[in-house]
Amino acid sequence: MSTPKTFYITTPIYYVNDVPHLGHAYTTVAADVLARYWRLRGRDVFFLTGLDEHGQKVQQAAAKAGIDPQAHCDKLAPQFQTLWKRLNISNDAFIRTTDLSHKSVVQRCLQDLYDKQLIYQDSYIGWYCTFDERFWTEKDVADGLCPDCKRPVEKLREHNYFFKMGQYQDRLIDHINQHPNFIRPESRRNEVLGFLTTQKLGDLSISRPKSRLSWGIDLPFDKDYVTYVWFDALVNYVSALEYLRPTPSFEQYWPASVHLVGKDILTTHAVYWSTMLMALGMKLPATIFAHGWWTVDGEKMSKSRGNVVDPNKIVDEFGADAFRYFLLREVPFGQDGDFSREAMIARINSDLANGLGNLLSRTLTLIERFAGGRVPPCPSPDDQFTEDLNVAGLEAHNFSGQHFAFLEFNRTLELIWKLVQACDQYIEKTAPWSLAKDPNQQVRLNRVLYRAADTLRLLCIHVYPFMPSTAENIVHQIGLDIDFQKPITTNTVTDTYWNHLPAEIRVQKGTALFPRIESKPQGDKTVSETPTPPRPTTATPAPTLISPQTPTPAVAAPAAGTLAQITIDEFQKIQLRTAIVLSAERVPKSEKLLKLQVSLGSEQRQIVAGIGKKYEPEALVGKTVVIVANMKPAKLMGIESQGMVLAAGDSEVYGLATILEEVDPGTKVK
Ligand code: MSP
Repeated sequence: MSTPKTFYITTPIYYVNDVPHLGHAYTTVAADVLARYWRLRGRDVFFLTGLDEHGQKVQQAAAKAGIDPQAHCDKLAPQFQTLWKRLNISNDAFIRTTDLSHKSVVQRCLQDLYDKQLIYQDSYIGWYCTFDERFWTEKDVADGLCPDCKRPVEKLREHNYFFKMGQYQDRLIDHINQHPNFIRPESRRNEVLGFLTTQKLGDLSISRPKSRLSWGIDLPFDKDYVTYVWFDALVNYVSALEYLRPTPSFEQYWPASVHLVGKDILTTHAVYWSTMLMALGMKLPATIFAHGWWTVDGEKMSKSRGNVVDPNKIVDEFGADAFRYFLLREVPFGQDGDFSREAMIARINSDLANGLGNLLSRTLTLIERFAGGRVPPCPSPDDQFTEDLNVAGLEAHNFSGQHFAFLEFNRTLELIWKLVQACDQYIEKTAPWSLAKDPNQQVRLNRVLYRAADTLRLLCIHVYPFMPSTAENIVHQIGLDIDFQKPITTNTVTDTYWNHLPAEIRVQKGTALFPRIESKPQGDKTVSETPTPPRPTTATPAPTLISPQTPTPAVAAPAAGTLAQITIDEFQKIQLRTAIVLSAERVPKSEKLLKLQVSLGSEQRQIVAGIGKKYEPEALVGKTVVIVANMKPAKLMGIESQGMVLAAGDSEVYGLATILEEVDPGTKVK
């Protein structure tokens, strides 16, 4: 089977009864990741999202706001559009079901079905849920409550128009059986099949009398009725292709490659929409994928609980890329998950700040230190240390496409982070800082630096669909020129296999990709960039000199308010200098002590610092710290320390002192 050239991806169109929330962001981000991935792989992508503006929910919300429904929609629509911009959503089109062209396509579809006698009028008595805008059968509402939203239902008799959905039951079952990827994941496919093979599929009421609901599209054959909001909404997937992109886009993009939906709206898509398409004589989408739902801190997200997560606030605090990453890394797509600030902070710190961010920063520092800031020429043949790195690269290259095809975002991300880890370990094992001391090891040193930089090239291509701004940032910092709007090609810099990094490019180390997020002692959190000390909660703690000599610091730190004064001459006795951490490791049998190798430019020092409870050694490599350079050497646990590192805190370390701007190692601090 040849790979299709186009990729048409949709999100549900969201009700404009309220502002966007976490659930809306989730589907839209997932769709964006797919769109970006396939664009980069050369497919002609059409990515559609938009708004469902008709129906009772919107009419009620407008009434509550005391404005006309259209004015209400016009007021809320920009909130969605602005959020998508902030989340870097690359949709090609944005549909609103109040668009005149959409309305006329819906009316044309209705007229077509009516003419084919697939729509008829009948009266119906049933249990109606106003909130969900749907009728339920007697056995669905045994307890008098809507099985979906648990609100009371009411008995209603209504004349309505019905679509002969029931007659497509067998055809739909056959279609599902013959197309294993039509409904995904497997568990959802089984649910739909289970329902279709055990219950009789009824006909679908596709109208609402205007006496009950006026906010909708008029039926073309009876002006006393408006179209049922789901019939109207589902048609968006084809109406958009008629007027939102230059024609003939229907021929080009239909059938859709993937309709992404939440698990709650799978039936409307898998059953209503599929049978509507059969009746209209159109092909069925290739895949309808139902994702799971997020709870928040273990609870259902709801307005009444007051725990609705506003994606704007998350972006304000953590940035769009970290949010996008978290949503797709934390939970396998298709399963339910729990959202919490703590889980998000933990992910950011471990995977983004310490993982990817640290790898970039340490690699660039090494290239700056040991190769004059230019990536050395292409490496000599591999050695035994490159093996794990090669395997991790190969796996990301070979299997991420497969995971993408099955929407297994978390598994793709796992592969990518295996590569991050493999590169970290490669640097650790080859110890370029030691190789640099021996001129005979120049070739090996070059190989390590090249391979690490080349790994970053691969990583930015792999992470691009998930974190587009981060990918651009990495590209910039390693001095590359990659246009992510253009497809990946082999034998160029965008090849996802090794050794396509041009040599001699000049790296441009910038700020940390992801600031580490510190939790304040009292449980109150702030975002700060490591190693900037956290903002004090009460009085500013005096900087502590964290060294073997603590807890007897060189400078006495009496309680705030009774600070002993020193003269400028006394201060000048202390020689403070910036230094770059080249490597860091734990001192065996000590929880607190780390052994650091730092560079002051013209010389290298070993410092033992009591910061091991606060920092993982790998998080420090590449960081600029401030040290006391004229401290008399001392031994701690048998290891010589040639200086002290400045940090904030007292018996507990809160953060390292550093310099805001990039400065050369060895620069005087006063
Ligand atoms: N308007 C219909 C869709 C019509 S598509 C032709 C609709 N809109 S909605 O705004 O209520 O919901 C849109 C999507 O948000 C659904 O896919 C739903 O599953 C999703 N979510 C709502 N709450 C959610 C969570 N708590 N978690 C994840 N997704 C959730 O339904």
